[in-house]
Amino acid sequence: MPRRIISKARRLVAGRKAVVVLLAGFVLGMVGLAIGGTTLVYTSSENFCSTSCHEMTTNVAMEYKGTVHDKNRTGVRATCPDCHVPHAPIPLYIRKMGAVNDLWGHLVTHSIDTREKFLAKRQMLAERVWTYMKGNDSRECRGCHNAANMDPERQSEKAQVRHAKAKREKMTCIDCHFAIAHEEPQGGVGPQELEVDKSLISRGAIF
Ligand code: HEC
Ligand code: HEC
Ligand code: HEC
Repeated sequence: MPRRIISKARRLVAGRKAVVVLLAGFVLGMVGLAIGGTTLVYTSSENFCSTSCHEMTTNVAMEYKGTVHDKNRTGVRATCPDCHVPHAPIPLYIRKMGAVNDLWGHLVTHSIDTREKFLAKRQMLAERVWTYMKGNDSRECRGCHNAANMDPERQSEKAQVRHAKAKREKMTCIDCHFAIAHEEPQGGVGPQELEVDKSLISRGAIF
């Protein structure tokens, strides 16, 4: 059987048909790449994240409106993907594969399709984000906030004191700055109480 397939393939590769097969493969590959790339870009837009399903629109997206990352003095914003979609390629692909779970919840299990169901799951969902952010040392926040470039002189006294403490006690941004884009979940632990394997966090020159 394999031999027959091989000889068939040989015949196909020889002669003029080979050019057609190669060209067809190339065109299909390009179409695939274009579809993949467009999907990746589109599903990483603020528009997609905040308006394409009511689970987000009626909960987290509504709460985000008017927060400091949405509207501020300078008009520089952080939108959903800035905080939730990794920028480096490998973590980005891993996150995108995880989105299959979101799609399953939306289409099949309807896991958070009412406000009540969402609130019941909120602590768990928040803990997932906090654990992720603690695990990568608030990488997405640091994509914009470079701790080494923060000028303590220009920060409030409270911020200066706490940031010095953060440096001493090896804390990460999300330990203190949680619930900055959405309402705080009620009745569970906060990020500081969450146990995360700290040895995984590289703290190099933070703060
Ligand atoms: C896309 C860039 C970007 C990302 C990502 C981002 N921020 Fe910000 N953040 C800003 C900008 C811009 C401001 C300042 C807005 C202003 O006041 O002009 C800001 C303001 C802040 C402030 C000051 C709030 C205040 O009331 O003055 C804190 C605290 C903060 N961010 C924490 C975080 C944390 C924690 C994360 C990660 C979960 C994060 N940011 C992610 C851009 C970003
Ligand atoms: C130990 C807790 C703690 C940690 C960890 C921490 N912060 Fe803060 N941060 C504070 C407090 C408290 C303030 C002051 C808030 C206020 O004045 O209401 C502050 C203020 C800020 C502000 C506003 C500064 C100003 O004066 O306008 C920014 C921006 C900020 N933090 C970013 C970060 C980033 C980025 C990280 C991680 C690299 C981080 N913080 C880690 C506690 C913390
Ligand atoms: C400045 C960073 C930031 C932005 C912008 C942001 N988020 Fe979040 N998001 C977080 C953090 C941090 C958490 C973890 C819970 C918390 O601290 O509020 C979270 C939690 C969530 C959760 C889990 C439920 C919950 O409330 O804990 C969902 C879903 C979510 N975000 C979706 C979105 C969507 C959709 C947008 C855009 C409309 C968005 N986020 C914008 C930082 C952000």
